[in-house]
Amino acid sequence: MDKDATLHIGDTAYPLNILKGTESEKAVDISLLRKQSKFITFDDGYGNTGSCESKVTFIDGDQGILRYRGFDITDLATNSNFLETAYLVIYGELPTTSELGLFRDRISNYAKLPDEVVTAINAQPQNSHPMGVLAAGLQALGGAYPNLCTNDRKADLENFDDSAALIISTVRTIAATRHRFLLNEQMPEADPGASYCKNFLSMMFGGDSSAPEMPSSVVNALDLIFLLHADHEQNCSTSTCRMIASGGANPFASLAGGVSALWGPLHGGANMAVIKMLNQIHDAGDDGSRFIESAKLGKTRLMGFGHRVYRNYDPRAKILKAACDDALEALGVSSPILEIARRLEEEALKDPYFVERKLYPNVDFYSGIILQALGFPTDMFTVLFAIGRTPGWLAHWKEIAEHGKKIHRPRQIYQGSTLRPYLSLENR
Ligand code: CMC
Repeated sequence: MDKDATLHIGDTAYPLNILKGTESEKAVDISLLRKQSKFITFDDGYGNTGSCESKVTFIDGDQGILRYRGFDITDLATNSNFLETAYLVIYGELPTTSELGLFRDRISNYAKLPDEVVTAINAQPQNSHPMGVLAAGLQALGGAYPNLCTNDRKADLENFDDSAALIISTVRTIAATRHRFLLNEQMPEADPGASYCKNFLSMMFGGDSSAPEMPSSVVNALDLIFLLHADHEQNCSTSTCRMIASGGANPFASLAGGVSALWGPLHGGANMAVIKMLNQIHDAGDDGSRFIESAKLGKTRLMGFGHRVYRNYDPRAKILKAACDDALEALGVSSPILEIARRLEEEALKDPYFVERKLYPNVDFYSGIILQALGFPTDMFTVLFAIGRTPGWLAHWKEIAEHGKKIHRPRQIYQGSTLRPYLSLENR
């Protein structure tokens, strides 16, 4: 650590440490500033604040680079698969054959939900959103496995391999259980010999054995979507998850918080919002140009565009754009909204409004089109994002549990009333 920054406030100079990351990222360490000077720093929305040191994911938003544990996202998307990448994200290294086998077996063994968790999922109000059900399902899951959900950090860490496999396996079972319940349909049990995604698709859509098999290209498209969502450093939901973990909460509670944070339309909820937007444009007979104009006037937002970190093409969107064509072709689906999406992208990328603000398509721009073609209901899209993001949340829970020293507790600049006396009801 170099001590080569100085902050001058009035006549006083405060020497500050400079922190450097392995990719030469630089930060001024202000952790002692308040003690030394009574000043805190102010950064509304944390846009310029490093909240932790982490070894999981590296993003260079200006260059459009995303790496999990040092591996480029395109390399992983081409050569790996979701479960292997999940192992990498959580444990830091690519697994050996036996490590991967053990990981897969654990996940496979945990596919079935305890009956009381199924009851809790299905007891949610009829109109509950699938994200609310997923958060509730994760909390119920912790209740069904009290030995994995102790809030004793040492014990929760010792049992982490089991809780991680249980959660990765059952986020898909929770989603499918609820989907089938609403349709009043039976859900087939997972086949231990089939892949993670194949099982999920069968839990969601499979029926009797005479139903046609999902083409492998479709299974692969879903696997790719999950892989591309596996982690994304300190985004809103992951920071929420770490925040909860910093107080000593177990993985189930921390991930339920992550799910709730992801639900918002500016975060994971954007994949649903994109489809709604594309349908609206289609139904209005607009070729996209009217919508772009209203986005430029600030009347609406071009959903699936822009990112807090990327000021370049989101590398995940690039991969998904190509996958979208393949998946639609394999399914024999022609999507009028894909045409609109392509046109919107083309127009926005040459429009000075979007160019000056460095607004490019993000991961949500094309993922919804693939998920729709695969047959998922729109209100489940964010759940699919959550299933993909589960390994990342678990990796960050583990990082905090192993290395976190303090409870996370930001400060604020208070702008409310100063001290005033209480007024009785009749005097107000
Ligand atoms: N359409 C039109 N204008 C936009 C958009 C958009 N999608 N995004 C940003 N802008 C404009 C914004 O109005 C502002 O303009 P001005 O400088 O004139 O006030 C400027 O660009 C900067 O925007 P910002 O809101 O300050 O940027 P941010 O970094 O706080 O927000 C964002 C990032 C993702 C919330 C935002 O770009 C957005 O709302 N995008 C649409 C929602 C979306 O696709 N979200 C998914 C993000 S990727 C998945 C994930 O990781 O969660």
